[in-house]
Amino acid sequence: MAPAVSIERAATLAIKKVNKPTRKDSGYQSPSPIDSPRLTVKLNDGNEIPQIALGVYKAPNGQETEDAVIAALDAGYRHIDSAARYANEEACGRALKKWFEKTGTPREEVFVTTKLWDADHGYEATFNALCDSLAKFQLDYFDLYLIHSPSDDKEKRHESWRALETAQKLGKVRSIGVSNFGASHLDDLLAEANVVPAVNQIEVHPFCQRQDLVEKCQQHGIVIEAYSPLARGNKLEDPRIVRIAEKNGKTPAQILINWSAARGNVVLPKSLTAHRIKSNMESLDFTLSAEDMAELDALGSENYVTGSLHRSKD
Ligand SMILES: NC(=O)c1ccc[n+]([C@@H]2O[C@H](COP(=O)([O-])OP(=O)(O)OC[C@H]3O[C@@H](n4cnc5c(N)ncnc54)[C@H](OP(=O)(O)O)[C@@H]3O)[C@@H](O)[C@H]2O)c1
Repeated sequence: MAPAVSIERAATLAIKKVNKPTRKDSGYQSPSPIDSPRLTVKLNDGNEIPQIALGVYKAPNGQETEDAVIAALDAGYRHIDSAARYANEEACGRALKKWFEKTGTPREEVFVTTKLWDADHGYEATFNALCDSLAKFQLDYFDLYLIHSPSDDKEKRHESWRALETAQKLGKVRSIGVSNFGASHLDDLLAEANVVPAVNQIEVHPFCQRQDLVEKCQQHGIVIEAYSPLARGNKLEDPRIVRIAEKNGKTPAQILINWSAARGNVVLPKSLTAHRIKSNMESLDFTLSAEDMAELDALGSENYVTGSLHRSKD
């Protein structure tokens, strides 16, 4: 465990100057063109976020995850979504470090997200958890730091948000957001906050569309990050998905990712399997017809696959 860093000490750390990215000539040849254009979504703070991320929930803190993160970066991903709770921040950090060294790619080209776990809510505790995550990742800043889920304690939740606002001012995180916030959590936060969350990361896929919450987020310029976009793999054999996939010459996973991205969501498919990591990244090079979108839109609204842990009432 890295030593906790107090907010006073953190405040004395110089805000990292961001230089324009330049690629050092490492002689490395990426299996996929690493300068190829990638889709990004603009956040309400002006930052851009790559639309597809590799999710690493349930990925171990070891070689398998390092290999998956490197496979993703080689395949063109520029966004990794981790969390303190996933207990694999060190493996993700090691993979990033190796890949930066191998390719000569500057840190600024990869968007790194992690999350504050429930046990660490509160002003000082949030700052210590953030510094701990930075140490595990071996990074100076995160591109996005999220409150993983709303604490039942509203006061503590707001203290955590204040800490995120401070961390953003200090340059330790570029963008700040929330996850698993329902409408009332957002209302409470917006009444107190100086900074509107850039994202709300929630379960969204064609079988769980949560349209009211999505519209509320949109009204406030809060981008939806769609987690469990493949419904944890449970719906990939659904005959309606399979039919649309066959019709388009795509895989069922590509259909689910494309549907979500077409709605403007940031999409976070998880895989530890190299060929799936690659094919999931190739989900944006086609447009679903209005007929296909309508069929997917009609699939459902509240069929959660992630259980009740993070289900907000609204
Ligand atoms: N904020 C939150 O509370 C929260 C909650 C849940 C998830 N998330 C984030 O969202 C990410 C994704 O969600 P998730 O992990 O719940 O589920 P998911 O991405 O919907 O599904 C992952 C499952 O699908 C399989 N899979 C991936 N690509 C596939 C393909 N092309 N064909 C067939 N199967 C495929 C994976 O297997 P293999 O790995 O074996 O390939 C894994 O079993 C997480 O990793 C995490 O970053 C956040």
